[in-house]
Amino acid sequence: MTPQTPRSDIGYELLMKIQEGAMAYSYRGLPLLKNPFDLAIYSMLLERARPRTLVEVGSYMGGSAVWFADQAGLLGLGTKVLSIDLEVPATEANASVRFLRGDARELWEVLPPSVMSALPRPLMVVEDSSHLSGTTAAVLEFFDPWLRPGEYIVIEDGILSDMRVADLYDGGPLRAIEEFLAQRPGRYEVDRGLCDYFGRNVTWNVDGYLRRM
Ligand SMILES: C[S@@+](CC[C@H](N)C(=O)[O-])C[C@H]1O[C@@H](n2cnc3c(N)ncnc32)[C@H](O)[C@@H]1O
Repeated sequence: MTPQTPRSDIGYELLMKIQEGAMAYSYRGLPLLKNPFDLAIYSMLLERARPRTLVEVGSYMGGSAVWFADQAGLLGLGTKVLSIDLEVPATEANASVRFLRGDARELWEVLPPSVMSALPRPLMVVEDSSHLSGTTAAVLEFFDPWLRPGEYIVIEDGILSDMRVADLYDGGPLRAIEEFLAQRPGRYEVDRGLCDYFGRNVTWNVDGYLRRM
């Protein structure tokens, strides 16, 4: 089932205008495909969750990995960022970032148990790859056994449903989130304080800030 009812207070017309800006945004000369709401929410989350490892799935040109590492550095967290994509970007803007070639649907290839079990904790995961519901589901299922209580996995771009294009993504991230949570009652909490910080789901990560209980 594809979620159809709008989830965000933003409203379609304004949403599409902000999206235009977000898709053109850059940071330190690199495209950074995020909107002002989530940049602000992520800053708060980093400060709160204090991850020592941040795994990002979907690097694009590396702008978000560099931004996460810079923000964590300002907070003195000593966070290492591992950013995974089918293609590895060239940037070396922050030495705390390591780019790895890998497929979101086969994360065990790039993150085998020997690597996962050695990651400094807390761990934070950001899934921002293809947004096909099957890919999002694969990322959720891969990290589920590894996440510890209090750690976060952020599923980006559930907003595609409000943008009325989720059908192009087989239901998109929201479908994957809903099916994943329904199969694991009580194991995760949607952090409503983050999702609804600027208004109900005034975030691209609609119902997507998930905290392991
Ligand atoms: C939306 S962009 C990432 C944007 C970036 N995180 C940012 O905020 O600037 C999506 C990225 O996911 C990658 N991608 C798509 N399918 C993937 C897959 N199956 N495994 C890994 N990466 C994938 C694409 O190559 C693309 O670079």
